[in-house]
Amino acid sequence: MNDRPKRMSGGKPTEARRGRKSQKESKDNATRLMHQKVKTARGRKIGSKLWLERQLNDPYVKEAKIQGYRSRAAFKLKELNEKYKLIRRDDLVVDLGAAPGGWVQIALELGAREVVGIDILPVEHVAGGNIIEMDFMDESAPEKLKSMLGEAPDVVLSDLAANTTGHKNTDHLKTVALVEAAAEFAMDVLKPGGHFVTKVFQGGTEGKLLKELKDRFEFVRHAKPKASRKGSPEIYLVAKGFKG
Ligand SMILES: C[S@@+](CC[C@H](N)C(=O)[O-])C[C@H]1O[C@@H](n2cnc3c(N)ncnc32)[C@H](O)[C@@H]1O
Repeated sequence: MNDRPKRMSGGKPTEARRGRKSQKESKDNATRLMHQKVKTARGRKIGSKLWLERQLNDPYVKEAKIQGYRSRAAFKLKELNEKYKLIRRDDLVVDLGAAPGGWVQIALELGAREVVGIDILPVEHVAGGNIIEMDFMDESAPEKLKSMLGEAPDVVLSDLAANTTGHKNTDHLKTVALVEAAAEFAMDVLKPGGHFVTKVFQGGTEGKLLKELKDRFEFVRHAKPKASRKGSPEIYLVAKGFKG
C-alpha cells in the first residue's frame, strides 16, 4: 500500500484557480471571525477557555452589549414578561440576586417605579434601583429588604444562583435552599394579586414547595425562555396572583 500523501498536480495555478483559492480563503477568514476561538493560555483552565469562547460567540451576549444591558439574563426576564405580563407601570419590584443588574434595568424599562434588590456582589447604581450588597441567606436580610421597601411589593423576582462547587449533592442543596428562601420571602411580603418569578433547576420546583405555591397563587407554571442556554439545567417558575 502507498501511505504517501497524494501528489499535488504540478505547474503554475491558472487565474481561475487563483480566484477560487482567494474566494475560499476569504470564506475561511469570515468563518474564523464569526466563530471566535480562544487560545488556551498557560494557567487558563479548559473550563474557563470554553466559557470565554461561548461568551464571545453568544448572540445574546452580543445583543446585550449593543442594547446596553448589563447581562444576557436581561433577555430572559424580557421574554418571561412578554409571555406572562408580570411587571406593570408604577410597580414596586424586588430583585433577589440582582448583580450585575440586567433584571433591574428591564424592570425599570417596563415601568417599575422602584427596584429594591440584594446581591452578595456589588451592583453599579441604576437610577430607580436600590440594591444592597448582602447575603440573602443572612437571617437579617429579609427584614433589611422589608425596611428598604416600606410597603408590600407588586412583584418579587429571584435569579439567585449559588456558585457551584462541582459536588452534585452540595450544589443541589444550596440551590434548593435559595429557591425556598426566595419563595418564603415572596409569600411573606407580596401584595395580594402580586407575582413571583424564580430561577429553579433541573426537575423544576421541589414537590412540597410546588404544592404550597399552587395553594397560594392563582397560576403556577414552569418556563424555559429561549435566552436560557439549551444545555443549562435552569428553568423558571412563574407564580401569578398571590392569594395573600
Ligand atoms: C444569574 S446571576 C443574576 C443575574 C441578574 N438577574 C442580571 O440580570 O444581571 C445570580 C446572582 O445571584 C447572586 N447570589 C447567589 N447567592 C446569593 C446569596 N446568598 N445572596 C445574595 N446574592 C446571591 C450571585 O452573586 C449572582 O450575582
